[in-house]
Amino acid sequence: MQITSVVNQKGGVGKTSLSVGAAAALAERGRRVLLIDLDPQGHATTEMLGLPEAPPQAPSLAKALTKMWKGPIEELVVPHPRCNIGRGGAFDVIPTSPGMFDLIRRLDQFRVPGWQLARVVQFANYDHIVIDCPPALDVLTNNALAASSGILVPVQPDRTSIRALRLLRDQIRFVEQTVNRAPIPYFGLVPGLYRRPMSHYATAALNELHGFGIPVLSHIPLGVVMNEAAAHGVPVTSFAPETIQAVSFREIAQALDTYAEQRPESPVVPAEHEFVFEDFITEVAEARNTNDNGARKKLYDLLPKRPRPSR
Ligand SMILES: Nc1ncnc2c1ncn2[C@@H]1O[C@H](COP(=O)(O)OP(=O)(O)OP(=O)(O)O)[C@@H](O)[C@H]1O
Ligand SMILES: [Mg+2]
Repeated sequence: MQITSVVNQKGGVGKTSLSVGAAAALAERGRRVLLIDLDPQGHATTEMLGLPEAPPQAPSLAKALTKMWKGPIEELVVPHPRCNIGRGGAFDVIPTSPGMFDLIRRLDQFRVPGWQLARVVQFANYDHIVIDCPPALDVLTNNALAASSGILVPVQPDRTSIRALRLLRDQIRFVEQTVNRAPIPYFGLVPGLYRRPMSHYATAALNELHGFGIPVLSHIPLGVVMNEAAAHGVPVTSFAPETIQAVSFREIAQALDTYAEQRPESPVVPAEHEFVFEDFITEVAEARNTNDNGARKKLYDLLPKRPRPSR
């Protein structure tokens, strides 16, 4: 299973469009694909795929990440019904849910930030997982980076993207060190959201982006068909299969499959420590709910007796 995060802390650069387009193109190739909507804005779920968010009472990614819910990942997943799927393939989605915004505050409290998402998905049964990240270098993006086999970075060919890419590169190094994982491969940059023919300014910025030494994949130029596909809740590969954007998504999917064949090293998800803060919080909450006289004693029993292992 290959996990690809679509990241860029810059807003509106085409992360969600690329996540949906690449995931749908992989499903069209007959791959079993899971798209995770990790952005609390929920645009992949609601705006691009026309799916409802998970109901408040239902199992959700937010609950799974904070261990308020510990069931199998299959219960978080909904199939997307209106996407062309190749034989043997699937296009499933973990939709957004209430509580995704609050999740950032809650995850920040955890002792070992970074591996929660990797743990939620580690036993999933897919060829590809594609994660649509929020426009921030926050705990959610860090979780996606920790879990990733590699990343796709959509970029607009302009000056601000160069600086954004430098910041992202620093953040990636920080996450690699903090969670102590192997280097995160860049599957590629995906230039997009520019008008054709490309201006001199955009061409110069694109040349500079080439200088990062990261593979530059197929471009996704501006096209109103992207908005039309989203308005119908259908990936552009199914809505307008002959467009330049749909063809590009297929080429990107092919590149992702090529990486998968080379079997890049998946991150080794560390075993959970004996004392897990998430479990501690959950159990404290439950102990309080019992409201009996022994509650205090229970809280004491739950406290860690060993010092934290140094990292
Ligand atoms: N190639 C394209 N042509 C025309 N419109 C596009 C194209 N790609 C994306 N868009 C539109 O541009 C807007 C921003 O794209 P998208 O939501 O994919 O960016 P994002 O990086 O995910 O944004 P955010 O940072 O808010 O999550 C959306 O309205 C989307 O429909
Ligand atoms: Mg987005």
